Amino acid sequence: MKILTKEEILPSLISDISKAKQKVQIISPWIKSEVLEKILSSIDENIKLEVIIRSSELSDFLITDEKVFQLIKEKNGTIFLNPKIHAKVVIIDSEIAYVSSANITNAGLIDEDGNIEAGTVINNKKEIKKLENYFEEIKNLSISIDDISGFILNSTNGRNGEALLLQELNEQTYLKFPNEKGFILGRILEIRKLNTSLFSSDENFIFKNLFSNKDELQKVILGKENDLWKKSAFYSLLNENNPSISIAKIELITEYNPQPEEGKSFLKTPLNPIPAGTIFSCFTNDEEIEKILKINHAGYYMDTPVKFGKLLNTDLNCYLDLEKIATMHMAVLGTTGSGKTTFVRRVLENIPETDIQVFIIDLYDEYSELDVPSKKIKKISLKDILFPLTAEDMKKLFKEEGIVIQEKTNEEKNLVAFLKQKLKPDLEFTAFNNESLEDILFESLDVLSPESHLRNEIIGFMDIIKRNYGEDALTYQKETVSFVKEGINAEKQFIIFNFKEINNINSRINIAGIIMKELFLTAKKNPDKKRIIVLEEAQNFAPEKGFGEVQASSDNISFIMSRKIATEGRKFNLGITAITQRPANISKYVLSQLNTQVIFKLINNNDLEAVSVFFESSKAYVFDLLPFFKPGVCYITGLAVPFGLISEIKLG
Ligand SMILES: Nc1ncnc2c1ncn2[C@@H]1O[C@H](COP(=O)(O)OP(=O)(O)OP(=O)(O)O)[C@@H](O)[C@H]1O
Ligand SMILES: [Mg+2]
Repeated sequence: MKILTKEEILPSLISDISKAKQKVQIISPWIKSEVLEKILSSIDENIKLEVIIRSSELSDFLITDEKVFQLIKEKNGTIFLNPKIHAKVVIIDSEIAYVSSANITNAGLIDEDGNIEAGTVINNKKEIKKLENYFEEIKNLSISIDDISGFILNSTNGRNGEALLLQELNEQTYLKFPNEKGFILGRILEIRKLNTSLFSSDENFIFKNLFSNKDELQKVILGKENDLWKKSAFYSLLNENNPSISIAKIELITEYNPQPEEGKSFLKTPLNPIPAGTIFSCFTNDEEIEKILKINHAGYYMDTPVKFGKLLNTDLNCYLDLEKIATMHMAVLGTTGSGKTTFVRRVLENIPETDIQVFIIDLYDEYSELDVPSKKIKKISLKDILFPLTAEDMKKLFKEEGIVIQEKTNEEKNLVAFLKQKLKPDLEFTAFNNESLEDILFESLDVLSPESHLRNEIIGFMDIIKRNYGEDALTYQKETVSFVKEGINAEKQFIIFNFKEINNINSRINIAGIIMKELFLTAKKNPDKKRIIVLEEAQNFAPEKGFGEVQASSDNISFIMSRKIATEGRKFNLGITAITQRPANISKYVLSQLNTQVIFKLINNNDLEAVSVFFESSKAYVFDLLPFFKPGVCYITGLAVPFGLISEIKLG
């Protein structure tokens, strides 16, 4: 150990720091940049630099000047604030340490008429170790400037508050409020920029004391007649001292405990308002927040996390729990071209190794190029056919071509009775297992008397259908039935039913309905296997009464089946993912059963109203954003995600 007089401290310190190889640790309550510059001049950004300074009152920073922060950041150093620190210490590479009375200021180290100081240089390893431990202890009682993004001004309840931001941040930035067990996860909802020269906000008048210009302000506002003068005076006043501050509306989303008791949830609803004055930070460690993003709504690790996009404006991955989709269903809603199909494809493409099977009702051949190994896919291309499932369906088809069957005459009664025998809304019992519609219609002629006008009409009907839809429309039913069965029983992970060629809307509804029915029956028999049905254009298959062109009635088999699966599917591990660009037109009953909601851009008022149920009052802000979402941006909420969040699906 060596004792140093005031004049000896600075030269010795500069010389020792210039030899530093790994790290320099400094405690100096007050620092002046011109002195610090001399001390740090020789070290580069590869040397770990930690500096603890005093932050007890504003006047501390009348001494420690602005440039100090710039110098330390240039050297890649970290600054810690401590309200009580008074010690003056420098440790270099765990080998040499200074303990003295001198701050890194002119008065402490340079000025001849400054303070009278004394110091010691220590080389003893054991003593230095002790000092290093002490440094760590003090550091733990200090706060890193990087961890201060702002502080709470007021809390309205456990979930909401207002904050002053101390750095430039965007809306939707995620925030961390440390607590005893972990932290509370928060998020910025809205930011207001206020000009402190003139007004504070009506809610936060705490900035009154920042009004240095009150008198001048009155001069500007009162008593001056000349508009030109007023304009100029206002302009200068508003520009004075860069007066803008940012006030943020904060949402506290969840309390996160990284090590809950055995079997307990990681997440808890925050019920205690955060005290005013609490400091918060943004996330600097991505792993920490990614861990939370892999927890489901119940607060447990997702069984099967599937990556689908990024948290808006970040590089953080968002996940949904496929198990919750397979059992508790999902709605994908958004105006045309908003990115729904792209999203669903992304989810399917990112499914990890799992035996969950996905059955896709692909209306426009958008899934056949799914980017997964082709051995996992079974594609089934359906032809443009008529597919009546009941005599009523057949009557409707006749009616479309002008043949009205009222069942008044015996001829008509016979015909309908015959059709009833043949056409059943069930894959096992329909005559299409063995015959085509053409066969059936030809046979039906036999139940009519030779002079019946219906005979000619039926023959005419067949001609028209062939002309309008092509030969297959009347002949391909048998094959269709066996394709559907093949698809239902396939072992592959992705079974794509390509509906692109099918023009007749009732055929679409009937084939989709029969697929859903078969899947429901299969799932009932074998509930251990998880299955998901992807239903595009769900407003046609599960329509809301009185909306759109498709009837929500008991003879719409896909309506019946989608309702059944939405309510009972979970018992048999059968889930439905319903996609629609018209949320107002999908059955409200079905929609209410879809427990994860993915909402893309929406503009139409009816549609916005239909999804408004998913936005509790604290989410009104996100609801207002929906019309402004870009393609690929969605709000996802419900059981498959930890909390409602805005995500961006990146193309490519
Ligand atoms: N994540 C995205 N980022 C940027 N653009 C996107 C994104 N997703 C989709 N788009 C754009 O929007 C177009 C339509 O996307 P997509 O087919 O997924 O929309 P959709 O909501 O399914 O529409 P529709 O209701 O018509 O089926 C895409 O071709 C693409 O140009
Ligand atoms: Mg689409």
